Amino acid sequence: MRIIRTRDYEHMSRQAANIISAQVILKPTSVLGLATGSSPIGTYQQLIDWYKKGDLDFSKVTAVNLDEYVGLGRSHPQSYAYFMNYNFFDHVNIQAYRTNIPNGMNYDVEAECSRYDQVIRDLGGIDLQLLGLGVNGHIGFNEPDEVFAKGTHRVTLSQSTKEANQRFFNNVDEVPDHAYTMGIFDIIQAKRVVMVASGENKAQAIKDAFFGPITPKVPASILQFHRDFTLVADDAALSLL
Ligand code: F6R
Repeated sequence: MRIIRTRDYEHMSRQAANIISAQVILKPTSVLGLATGSSPIGTYQQLIDWYKKGDLDFSKVTAVNLDEYVGLGRSHPQSYAYFMNYNFFDHVNIQAYRTNIPNGMNYDVEAECSRYDQVIRDLGGIDLQLLGLGVNGHIGFNEPDEVFAKGTHRVTLSQSTKEANQRFFNNVDEVPDHAYTMGIFDIIQAKRVVMVASGENKAQAIKDAFFGPITPKVPASILQFHRDFTLVADDAALSLL
């Protein structure tokens, strides 16, 4: 595990974008596992900037996103499909048919989970997985649990996750109760994993995940086992180390 300490959110975003950019330059057909939320927005902005300057080409890249709320369609402003288009895909030359995200409108849980697992298998796995970190140590929407969930599955969101995400909705009751998420096994199978974390509210989760025992009660702790895991975090997020 590598830790890249940065001054602040902007610095963190540039460092993470540098790693993703190197990945895309070295392997233009990369499969990128992508995340939503506040943490990666600056990284996407930096990648868009370099794309606009002519330094990056996403035409052969495939994206496979971590998660989606159950019950929100692609055009819902709080859906993760909408987020990805708005914050990244609409601004670079990635092909729409090469972007993948669980279908939150498919209520057939078994069918949707096996479809998404098949998508990841057919792509031959993920070259680089970008992650954020939940305040409770979740990755994707793999919430603290008694076991590590393997493949794509439907989760019931914890109250702390709903509260953390309510800032995107009018109130906590509007946050969906369920989400589809890639499993822990899908995530740690990625050849390279990069996590971005910023701010004091992530400090305890970083300490628990990377300096404590490996346990499904802190899902991100499994990344301690990964052979190519890089945490890019700012001073505030690393303040408890
Ligand atoms: C989002 C995701 C989540 C977030 C995490 C942190 O696709 O999978 O695990 O990365 O909840 O969210 P932010 O970055 O908003 O603090």
